[in-house]
Amino acid sequence: MSAVEAFDAVDLIRTKRDRGELSTEQIGWLVDAYTRGYVADEQMSAMTMAIFLNGMTRREIRDMTMAMIASGERMDFSGLGKPTTDKHSTGGVGDKITLPLMPLVASFGVAVPQLSGRGLGHTGGTLDKLESIPGWRAELSNDEMFAQLRDVGGVICAAGAGLAPADKKLYALRDITGTVEAIPLIASSIMSKKIAEGTGALVLDVKFGSGAFLQDIERSRELARTMVELGEDAGVATSALLTNMNVPLGLTIGNANEVRESVEVLAGGGPADIRELTVELAREMLALAGQADVDVEAALDDGRAMDTWRAAIRAQGGDPDAPLPTAREQHVVVAERDGVLVRQEALPFGIGAWRLGAGRARKEDPVQHAAGIDLHAKPGDAVRKGEPLFTLHADEPERFARALEAVEGAWTIGEPGDEIQDGGPLIADRIGR
Ligand code: URA
Repeated sequence: MSAVEAFDAVDLIRTKRDRGELSTEQIGWLVDAYTRGYVADEQMSAMTMAIFLNGMTRREIRDMTMAMIASGERMDFSGLGKPTTDKHSTGGVGDKITLPLMPLVASFGVAVPQLSGRGLGHTGGTLDKLESIPGWRAELSNDEMFAQLRDVGGVICAAGAGLAPADKKLYALRDITGTVEAIPLIASSIMSKKIAEGTGALVLDVKFGSGAFLQDIERSRELARTMVELGEDAGVATSALLTNMNVPLGLTIGNANEVRESVEVLAGGGPADIRELTVELAREMLALAGQADVDVEAALDDGRAMDTWRAAIRAQGGDPDAPLPTAREQHVVVAERDGVLVRQEALPFGIGAWRLGAGRARKEDPVQHAAGIDLHAKPGDAVRKGEPLFTLHADEPERFARALEAVEGAWTIGEPGDEIQDGGPLIADRIGR
């Protein structure tokens, strides 16, 4: 005989539709009943749209997060005997910060369990980037992850299927029902995975601007506040940086080229914005893990972070010395006149790199590791007519036309002294204790 269900999905949908509040028990039941297939996709679609339109209270968001955590396993790194700290970025164009950040923080003796994903659409995935390193393996068992955290200090790997399975199902539904951009749903989705992962401290890199998921800085601030509260409520020391995603990060957008740039940062060089964000996020992560007064930059300049990177790549079967793949075809775009680059819009360059093959349109598509865009100038740089502005890389030359269509009009060359459009500081605000 089947068990009697505690609630009726239609009653709960009506409550949210009419701007009512759901109880802790109702939210717990809804998430569980949806995960086991009792609540149908069409009912959950109506519920997510009601949440999108009418929002949720802080208590409801916390209950939603806890219910999604309870749908799967919860990891526990307390046996490591050292603090754990992690970072999550809401995603952006050229955002490869996890790659230099993990080894940098781990080189201070703090464990960094960085469970990452693959890219969908114009924002790249950390695992896709690392898979351009010959031999590197993203899938690790929990035992392998634990051993790497103990022996190397940090790991970047795929989040196992056991972590917040309710979120996987719900996220796929939101993706096809126009309900991704609801702050209660984004916050509970991200934080359920990070809390279930078992990290003791968490720094959130919440992006705003044209290349970000939420373009408006005030909405990004609200998301950051909501996530910081969720983390703190769950006993995870949490802070957030609000960072500018109007302009691509660094000089590379793709996979193999982003690994190359990350290695430059680990060697003490690399573009100034990548180094700045890596260093600031590392300071936050270390401070939350109890190491507020360390010289973070020294570990980039003296090779400690690079040693940890090499050890982490090797531990996952990769060869840190192997040449990275290169694309068969290149197309160079040159400056149309002398002047200063005053605008370079992130989103079109992200879409351009995606169309070159660096990203995927469907979950099951492969990515082309050597495809992408190398930028030769950033806003504020002087450029001369006929000199390269950026280079497109692809294996199939037929891809260039659609990528060029995507970036058409995405940059402006002005006069010396002209204002940089969409400029402003890279780190606009910090939220947290
Ligand atoms: N990333 C997630 O993991 N979940 C969201 O809802 C949005 C971004």
